[in-house]
Amino acid sequence: MKKFIFLICCLFLLPHFLTAQTITSPDGNFQMVFRLNEEGTPTYSLTYKGKTVIQESRLGFLIKSGYAFDHNFMITDSQIRESDTIWKPVLGEYREIRDHHNELFIALKQEQTDWLLNLRFRLFNDGLGFRYEFPIQSGLRHFVIEEEETEFRLTGDHLAFWQPADYDTNEYELSTSKLSEVKDLREVVCSEPLAAQSPTERLAVQTPLLMKTKDGLYIHLHEASLVNYAGMHLNLDDSQFILSSHLTPDRNGDRGYIQTNSTSPWRTIIVSDDARDILASTLILNLNEPCKIEDPSWIKPCKYVGVWWEYFTGGPSTWAYTDYQDIRIGETDYSQLKCNGHHGANTQHVKDYIDFAAKHGFDAVLVEGWNEGWEDNWAYHKEVIYSWTRAYPDFDVEELHRYAQSKNVKLIMHHETTSAVTEYERRMHEAFQFMKDNGYDAVKTGYVGPIIPRSEYHDGQWMVNHYNRVAETAAQYQIMVDSHEAVRPTGYSRTYPNWIAQESARGTEFESFRGNHPDHTTILPFTRLKGGPMDYTPGIFEGDLSVYGGKTAKVSTTLAKQLALYVTMYSPLQMAADLKENYEKYPDAFQFIKDVALDWDNSYFLEAEPGDYITIARKAKGKDEWFVGAITDEKARTANIDLSFLPAGKRYVATIYADGRNASWNKNPKSYTIRSRKVTSKTRLQVALAPGGGAAISIRPVK
Ligand code: NOJ
Ligand code: CA
Repeated sequence: MKKFIFLICCLFLLPHFLTAQTITSPDGNFQMVFRLNEEGTPTYSLTYKGKTVIQESRLGFLIKSGYAFDHNFMITDSQIRESDTIWKPVLGEYREIRDHHNELFIALKQEQTDWLLNLRFRLFNDGLGFRYEFPIQSGLRHFVIEEEETEFRLTGDHLAFWQPADYDTNEYELSTSKLSEVKDLREVVCSEPLAAQSPTERLAVQTPLLMKTKDGLYIHLHEASLVNYAGMHLNLDDSQFILSSHLTPDRNGDRGYIQTNSTSPWRTIIVSDDARDILASTLILNLNEPCKIEDPSWIKPCKYVGVWWEYFTGGPSTWAYTDYQDIRIGETDYSQLKCNGHHGANTQHVKDYIDFAAKHGFDAVLVEGWNEGWEDNWAYHKEVIYSWTRAYPDFDVEELHRYAQSKNVKLIMHHETTSAVTEYERRMHEAFQFMKDNGYDAVKTGYVGPIIPRSEYHDGQWMVNHYNRVAETAAQYQIMVDSHEAVRPTGYSRTYPNWIAQESARGTEFESFRGNHPDHTTILPFTRLKGGPMDYTPGIFEGDLSVYGGKTAKVSTTLAKQLALYVTMYSPLQMAADLKENYEKYPDAFQFIKDVALDWDNSYFLEAEPGDYITIARKAKGKDEWFVGAITDEKARTANIDLSFLPAGKRYVATIYADGRNASWNKNPKSYTIRSRKVTSKTRLQVALAPGGGAAISIRPVK
């Protein structure tokens, strides 16, 4: 009997003393091995269909000052469990999302200090997520991270879709090169006139990072649930092809203030041998906490127009009311100043946009330049801090509230902060209350320029907490948030779905500066959009900015591709960004923007290769309607669109908005055709895409 009990005890305790543990994904394609190596350093490795994705890679921390919390560990507990649940996003690409994973939990104790560190790995059919957990313990209550030492040891010189690390911006041009070529190209990209360049000490790139191996594996690295922690960049050792975490510091060089009883974000590795699976992956959302808003029924998809593009076209419109620069906010009496004569956000002009929105069925109108303080914006002198409650004299808040309400249109408020973030935090409650009092339920926030007056960077822990706090506070007021220039998203919109979209990458505005490369939007859905919806602001019909007299830039797409972006760039917040006059010139093409849905029951990733092409079909939520978007880079291509996602045995009408015969993004962007034809689930459409072109299709039942 005693022997038997001893045996049982040994069996029970065995896993705790084993230094290696293995888990597989539910479908068996992935295998992850955790091991404590000879130095007692935690490591992991990952294979997919028998191929190595990540070689044995170290985990741990360097803690201030100079203490290695990364070796001499022993395992004190380990658990394996399977979880298979289904949840419903408030707004999304799917009506339901399955979260099926196998989890390995490891509790560690460092021998010389008795400090505790836990690791949690979750292996899904689309990849791996893991995080550090800092349990409550008597010997360690808080600490400062000098660096997180998570490694991703790759197997070779993969092709990478990357942008250089920068603590303050994610608005670089996207580059495609081998990892070994990043170093040379980085110099070129960073010397661009519009590049920001906050210091990164070593050769480093941003996440989300997509790579493709020589034998056709797609590997996507990012993070999920970035909460109370710094955004992660990746150092690149380009001789051994090792990526390692590079947390954004504050300006004192500290990378995280950690109180125990907390966790790091999840480090995510999405992998497939089919590029479409990367687009379809829900791993990052699955690793975020469920919705924390008890009744999210007020969170609605939103299609909007705005007093916006006119500021970028080179026309005369200005955000500022006056040309006078010597403004002291709170002291300057604007009613005593002369308007410059071309202030965009004036009451009549906004009313015209409200009329346009009402006529064409848009939900809302964004108005930028409505509030005091824009005179100094472009200089970023920060002598001026905006008021978020005082409108310019020619913007009648009450009258516009009344008028918009009478037309059943909402106004979207704009809170540019030029990164005067401390001031914004102080004013946030009164600003949100002012919005509610005047009928606004959505705000576009902005963080242009360096953070003042604090010693912070845009992607550091303090700012991450700020963006999250804005979303959480806005939720208390039932306000939806669209943030620009914030840290790139990590799926937190699952938890706070009122954070309806973000910019956080190069959007359409750059087309007016110098243009995005035609392959830009064939990469973003693989990288930036895996973290969450993007306010890309598509829909530019007049792509030649020279018509406005002030600029020569040309939009890098055909008109038909602008339509396709409403499907390929997922977001429940979508702008029709062009001037209303340009939509009035092309009412037949505009019809697609009016029709397209923003919230979906299901999404079908039909064709995809990063940097080259993407074709996506989606079913509108709760409706018998489907929309398809197909885009290509600078090369002409034929989109092969298999409609087998349609219910069998039913007949539908497809309206196809395609590039005209001689269309091309740079020579003939406005040539398009619109035709209708009957289709069924057996139909295979072939649609020609012009260089820099695209196609958009709406599908409805035959009446
Ligand atoms: C940059 C934003 O991306 C853009 O949309 C906005 O109009 C300007 N900042 C001014 O706030
Ligand atoms: Ca290409």
